[in-house]
Amino acid sequence: MTSKIHVEKLDKHFGALVALEDFNLDVAPNEFLSIVGTSGCGKSTLLSILAGLESATSGSVTLDGQDIIGPGRDRGVVFQSHSLLPWLTCQQNVEFALRDGSLSAKERADRARKQLALVGLTDFADSYPVALSGGMKQRVAIARSLAYRPEVLLMDEPFGALDALTRRVMQELLTNVWEQHKLTVVFITHDVQEAVFVSDRVVVMSNRPGHVKAEFRVDLPRPRDHSLAASPEFSALTGKVLEAIYSEALAVVG
Ligand SMILES: Nc1ncnc2c1ncn2[C@@H]1O[C@H](COP(=O)(O)OP(=O)(O)OP(=O)(O)O)[C@@H](O)[C@H]1O
Ligand SMILES: [Mg+2]
Repeated sequence: MTSKIHVEKLDKHFGALVALEDFNLDVAPNEFLSIVGTSGCGKSTLLSILAGLESATSGSVTLDGQDIIGPGRDRGVVFQSHSLLPWLTCQQNVEFALRDGSLSAKERADRARKQLALVGLTDFADSYPVALSGGMKQRVAIARSLAYRPEVLLMDEPFGALDALTRRVMQELLTNVWEQHKLTVVFITHDVQEAVFVSDRVVVMSNRPGHVKAEFRVDLPRPRDHSLAASPEFSALTGKVLEAIYSEALAVVG
């Protein structure tokens, strides 16, 4: 099968600092891929390159066989902090993402309502971000990133700022959304359990300069809910991923 995303011999330098070196990755259409790695290993750099916000120093990065040369509506991006516009309501924030003129005002409003319903926020459509909890704001950000129906969703520690319980709820919500939308997801986290819970495959990065150190296929049944975390298969797999990342973490510390 042809890859949705293909990364080959990617290097990224920031001056003398080498953030990524010989990074190679293929992501299949509709795959849910997580990337884990220690702090500073180059995860956000990789995601920015996939988003088209940073350029590669060398190597090839393609989406559907085309070079990624800038941001595009084929990709939705969600960052750790929600980045909603505070002066717009939830509904308006989602509609704002659709402002390119390809939809009528009514179509934009309908689409935004539907996206907010998908993340369980119908009752808060007319609320401003200030009136929402952190998890709710991230749900609006997810609704917004999916509003223009991207084929690829790029997420950089989207639940990093949330408490453990809200995180779990968001992980389930995200996998449910993914099952309905069927799109290709690249999900960055440093939480191994989170990575295994949401993914089809988990890639472990080396310390900087980042490259792929190991990868693990997650053949756990879907739809997933958090009872899965109690299963021996889940523990065995998270144990293996942790082992791969732990030696990198030890090297950082000391
Ligand atoms: N714009 C930039 N200019 C200079 N150096 C940068 C820039 N962006 C990232 N770096 C460096 O590249 C390396 C990788 O950073 P990156 O943000 O990709 O790490 P990360 O894996 O996302 O870390 P974390 O888990 O802490 O978010 C770091 O050493 C960082 O200092
Ligand atoms: Mg980062």
